Amino acid sequence: MKKACVIGWPIKHSRSPLIHGYWLEKYGIESRYEKVAVRPAELADFLKQLEQNGFVGCNVTVPHKETVFAQADVVHDEANAVNAANTLWLEGGKLHADNTDIYGFLAHLQQSAPDWLQGGTVAVLGAGGAARAIVYGLLKSGAASEVRLCNRTIERARELQSFFKDHKITVVDWDGRHRALVGCSLVVNTTSLGMEGSPSLDLSLEALPRDAVVADIVYAPLETELLAAARQKGCRTVDGLGMLLHQAVPGFEHWFGVRPEVTDELRDLVIADLTG
Ligand code: ATR
Repeated sequence: MKKACVIGWPIKHSRSPLIHGYWLEKYGIESRYEKVAVRPAELADFLKQLEQNGFVGCNVTVPHKETVFAQADVVHDEANAVNAANTLWLEGGKLHADNTDIYGFLAHLQQSAPDWLQGGTVAVLGAGGAARAIVYGLLKSGAASEVRLCNRTIERARELQSFFKDHKITVVDWDGRHRALVGCSLVVNTTSLGMEGSPSLDLSLEALPRDAVVADIVYAPLETELLAAARQKGCRTVDGLGMLLHQAVPGFEHWFGVRPEVTDELRDLVIADLTG
């Protein structure tokens, strides 16, 4: 029987088994998707034995996203571009690595706000791994013509700007975040602020045009304070859960040969698990 898994350290809270388990059942595929706790020191051995242990591939989460490269035979463009991979699969005896977070974010944005004004200025809060994937995706796809990057630690925003060597990225200091929304078509929170157990994100939406879209990668709670404020202002909102669901699609297709659908039923299943 074919098997896939998600690896990380820790891995207890991963929702990937729920998502892939739902699809395996829905498409009547006799396979398993497991959760495997892999310590950083065990990563190389685990991946060398992936095929031997019956796996056709895996998802990769913290802290392995940047270290799996050493074991991959083929690194695909998006993983290469952001120096992080979240999806691995075996093909022709070779281990392939790609980053599907970029696809996940853009696909969900497109589905949630199909008519949003692409090609404008986008404000991105945060400068961690999630910001790197999102900024890359927005600029590469042409969804953004300019990114205003705003992070508490300004040096990290500058590092991200020089990582992409892209003149379309402007760094804004943290205090300037409210004004940075002037004229933006989209604002994305990639920080952990607003997540259950974290401080809230203090961001005034006053300067943001009403036809702008507001996206949050935080999905617990599903409607963050940022998204509630955006909704009250009349802006369209994009929650963080959709990115999690959509990023899982390409991996499932690589492993099991079926391109799965992100349905409302799947969303409800994950929401029930998050709130249960
Ligand atoms: P990820 O890889 O998931 O994006 P990360 O690298 O830990 O995670 O990044 C978390 C982001 O949340 C960072 O942009 C971080 O800002 P710093 O670079 O200044 O640390 C941001 N963040 C976390 N706590 C914050 C806080 N209390 N105020 C402002 N930003 C915060």
